Amino acid sequence: MRKKVVAGNWKCNTTVAEGVELAKAVNELVAKEGAEDVVVVLGTPFTHITSVVDAVDNGRIGVASQNCAAEPKGAFTGEVSAAMVKSTGAGYVILGHSERREYYGETSETLNKKLALALENGLTPIYCCGEALEIREAGTQKEFVINQLEETIFQLSVEDFKKIVIAYEPIWAIGTGKTATTGQAQEMHKDIRDAIAAKFGAEVADETSILYGGSCNARNASDLFSNPDVDGGLIGGASLKAPDFLAIINAY
Ligand code: 13P
Repeated sequence: MRKKVVAGNWKCNTTVAEGVELAKAVNELVAKEGAEDVVVVLGTPFTHITSVVDAVDNGRIGVASQNCAAEPKGAFTGEVSAAMVKSTGAGYVILGHSERREYYGETSETLNKKLALALENGLTPIYCCGEALEIREAGTQKEFVINQLEETIFQLSVEDFKKIVIAYEPIWAIGTGKTATTGQAQEMHKDIRDAIAAKFGAEVADETSILYGGSCNARNASDLFSNPDVDGGLIGGASLKAPDFLAIINAY
């Protein structure tokens, strides 16, 4: 049975002190009231990871970085390698977020390097895909998203592919308050699962967690998660408030 996952992506928000406070609040709420069958992950800025790992019950809450370097180590000022992320105690890394692709020029080529290093270092990639509004309006979103997968995670061996969590995040829904309808989310998640089945087989497809991201919040999460192919969420804004994040965790 594939895992249900609710992961927060804090993006470039919170100081270390604020992040630790938020992580502690989430930890406490999840311990008391969190759905036990949901994997909970906090995607924090690099600077916060060690403190957040120390602040939460590591058996219950995973921690993710929001990126890692495309090189293993060396003279790359300002970069943080996958090995460094792993050494903080984080278990996950968010890769291919549309904000990284759009603002920092990440290509499939860069992402393949990052994916390889993340996997080599025992991190679970939460791999993001998703189309811009023009593509949705042109009706070519399926081809676009499947192509993003074909150029990257579909190049992995089946053993490595099985370690990936996918997050479908339509760019037009990120931070806009405009969520994909349950029908739009289910349709794309099913298309992604069918493409995985064609590439790696039905059993692998059935075991792959595919999360939805884009203005998912405490009010709309249960509708989105009621879709058979939506296995949780990658949550931006609403993950910055512990009670809202808990409500999303408990939205199944
Ligand atoms: P919002 O939930 O703020 O729309 O962000 C979604 C996202 O980009 C998560 O990675």
